[in-house]
Parts: sequence; structure tokens; C-alpha cells
Amino acid sequence: MQQKPYRIAIFASGSGSNAEQLMTYFSTKKEIEVALLVTNRSKAKAVGRALRFDVPALVLKKEDFDEKQAFLLTELHRMEIDGIVLAGFLLKIPTNLIAAFPEKIINIHPSLLPNFGGEGMYGSHVHEAVQKAQATESGITIHLVNEEYDKGEILFQARCAVHANDSPQTIADRVLALEHAHFAEVCANYFAQFTEKIA
Ligand code: GRF
Repeated sequence: MQQKPYRIAIFASGSGSNAEQLMTYFSTKKEIEVALLVTNRSKAKAVGRALRFDVPALVLKKEDFDEKQAFLLTELHRMEIDGIVLAGFLLKIPTNLIAAFPEKIINIHPSLLPNFGGEGMYGSHVHEAVQKAQATESGITIHLVNEEYDKGEILFQARCAVHANDSPQTIADRVLALEHAHFAEVCANYFAQFTEKIA
């Protein structure tokens, strides 16, 4: 049997600090490789980060993520992508991709789902809502992606305290530190069931 790494594509719309964390982590692993970065924003910092890791970047327009468009799916197949990781990706994943990668798409959400999830709950909106609700804790949820927004099977959660004097930004910083600490390892452990051992 031919031994080849499991090839993942990272989708990111923004700064890409999680994407960078994933690329750093997998650059030392044989079984899993980051083979592609996909973004909907040409100015996303994530693009520069990918290029520094020699990971090709595919910059697409919003329309290319429409489920009636075959282009993205064709590209993912052409690049022999096996799994997808959403790292701060802001568009809805088209249903044709979800069908083509069943249980092979992982997302990270910056709250303890089901709290502060669903449509419109992304980025700073999440931390503002957490602060407004006077929640005493927040955290991260790493989950599989299905047709329902933020409702796929939960793989992992980690919590952090929220203090009365926290701003949305201090909550965001604490949550992002949790993301960086756990995301890559949770992805690696989950995808391990699909990978081939490489000597
Ligand atoms: C993270 O908080 C992630 O959970 C959310 O968007 C943020 C992305 O940060 N979906 P970065 O682009 O990885 O720095």
C-alpha cells in the first residue's frame, strides 16, 4: 500500500493565527500535511502566513462558495484534499462540500456551544454577547461541521473564566490562547483515524 500523508485544507478569512498554529504543528508531522489554504479575502493575513510555510493559497470570491458552483470542490479534489479545517472562516460552507467531506470538516468556535452559537455569532460578536450576558465562563468548542450552523458533533471543549471587569477584548484574548493551545492537537487526534502510518 502506498504511504501518503493525509492532506488537509485550512479555510481562513482573517488574521489566521490559528491557521499559522496548525501549519507550525503539522510541519513536524509525517502523517498529516497542510496542503492548501483557502480564503475568501485576498487581504487576509492568513495568505501571507501560508506562503511563508510554502502552502499554496486559493483566494476565492464569495460567489465561489455558492453550493451551485463546482469550482471549489473540483479544486479540492484536484489537490487531493482529504479533510478540511475551518480556522476563523466566516462564510457558510456549501452543502456540496459537506456532502463530499462527510465528518471530515472541523470547525473551531470561540464559545462553549451551544451557548453563544448560531447565525451572526462570530468573532467579536461572540465575546460581546458573553460579556453582556454576564457569563462567568467562556471557552472554545471544536466540532464537526454538518448542514446546521454550529451544531455538528462536539469533539472537544475547554473553558476559561470570565471576570466582571473583562472587556470583550480581554475575553477574546483568553479564548484565543485556548484555541492556540488545543486546536492542532484535537485535529491531529481526530484525523488520526483516517491516516496511514508512515515509517
Ligand atoms: C478565532 O477566535 C476563531 O475561533 C474564530 O475566529 C477567530 C480567528 O482568529 N472563528 P485567527 O484568524 O485564527 O487569528
